[in-house]
Amino acid sequence: MDYQRVFTQAIDRLHAEGRYRVFIDILRNKGMFPNARCFAGHNGPKPITVWCSNDYLAMGQHPKVIAAMEEALHDVGAGSGGTRNIGGNTHYHVDLEGELADLHGKEGALLFTSGYVSNEATLSTLAKILPGCIIFSDELNHASMIAGIRNSGCEKRVFRHNDVEHLEELLAAEDPEAPKLIAFESVYSMDGDIAPLHAICDLADKYNALTYLDEVHAVGMYGPRGGGISERDEAASRITIIEGTLGKAFGVMGGYIAADKMIIDVIRSYAPGFIFTTSLSPVLVAGVLAAVRHLKSSSEERDGQQAAAARLKAMFAEAGLPVMRSVTHIVPLMVGDPVKAKRISDILLAEYGVYVQPINYPTVPRGTERLRFTPGPAHSEEMMRELTDALVEIWDRLDMRAAA
Ligand SMILES: Cc1ncc(COP(=O)(O)O)c(C=O)c1O
Repeated sequence: MDYQRVFTQAIDRLHAEGRYRVFIDILRNKGMFPNARCFAGHNGPKPITVWCSNDYLAMGQHPKVIAAMEEALHDVGAGSGGTRNIGGNTHYHVDLEGELADLHGKEGALLFTSGYVSNEATLSTLAKILPGCIIFSDELNHASMIAGIRNSGCEKRVFRHNDVEHLEELLAAEDPEAPKLIAFESVYSMDGDIAPLHAICDLADKYNALTYLDEVHAVGMYGPRGGGISERDEAASRITIIEGTLGKAFGVMGGYIAADKMIIDVIRSYAPGFIFTTSLSPVLVAGVLAAVRHLKSSSEERDGQQAAAARLKAMFAEAGLPVMRSVTHIVPLMVGDPVKAKRISDILLAEYGVYVQPINYPTVPRGTERLRFTPGPAHSEEMMRELTDALVEIWDRLDMRAAA
């Protein structure tokens, strides 16, 4: 086997399709989000504005979060020192699980090292524990849920995105006695649409199914205390397991599930992705604790984000840019071609100091490649105006209006 040739061919395929990923080398400027420095090119770091961060509310730079992390670092040191079972269960972890359980009105919560791991570990374990379990999965579910479902080895039925009629058809076709789990997201982060939570829960009740809801792109940002769409829509008590990340609106790192005590105990006791890995650093956990507590009582960041998103969508629409319909904080701009999406992103960075990453297959279906903007409370009117003007200029330069 010519290993080198096979690896080269794999990379060449990505180049040929225009979806080879280039990571942009940046440093954020603490306290000045969304300003950052970019190390691309040879002229030293250059100032840029970040438009694609999932630190949606800039909590990663919030003074309370920074102070809590500094305090923890000086108090207990850097790492946790072990798995949760062997040396790595700190008081910070216990406190944060209590805070997250309270956020979602659940009996318990369990931390993981990322949202990805929480989805993979929980779904794969749950479906193994339930003999003959069938998982009903929204077709646009995140890769981490798909990995969990696949690794569970159980039967899977995929329903059309947010289509409750199709979901019901699939549920009705199965043995009423078979254990069932419906896995879906609240905010779908590439389109910015929201699942019909109550309609899905109604079906779960009717067909005696458990529900698993990924609120990664909603926690911190929706609901009066940041409990997500399930809090906003008063559906949390109807969802069996709510999953979230600590790395996006909460600004730090990690993932979690919240559920009743028995389920938490089962996952804690059986999920390899929870058991066999060093627990999150207490420094990270301390930062998240500060962020969750702050966002439970402050709506300022949420309101600022919603206002910024509404404003940017309006500006794009007024300028005739192909802004996609989104009912959330996510502002996607359709390009429909991976090479063009990359080219626009390159021009924005090189000529306008605007950083937005192109989104390609497999993150979105082929032919729907896009730029995905995440305006937040710190993006000013002036930044939005400059961004819109830059996009209009590029759209004209690349003759994209004629194509639209
Ligand atoms: C819907 C969804 N679930 C889970 C994850 C994984 O979360 P994390 O980044 O904390 O691993 C992501 C990450 O982008 C996501 O978009």
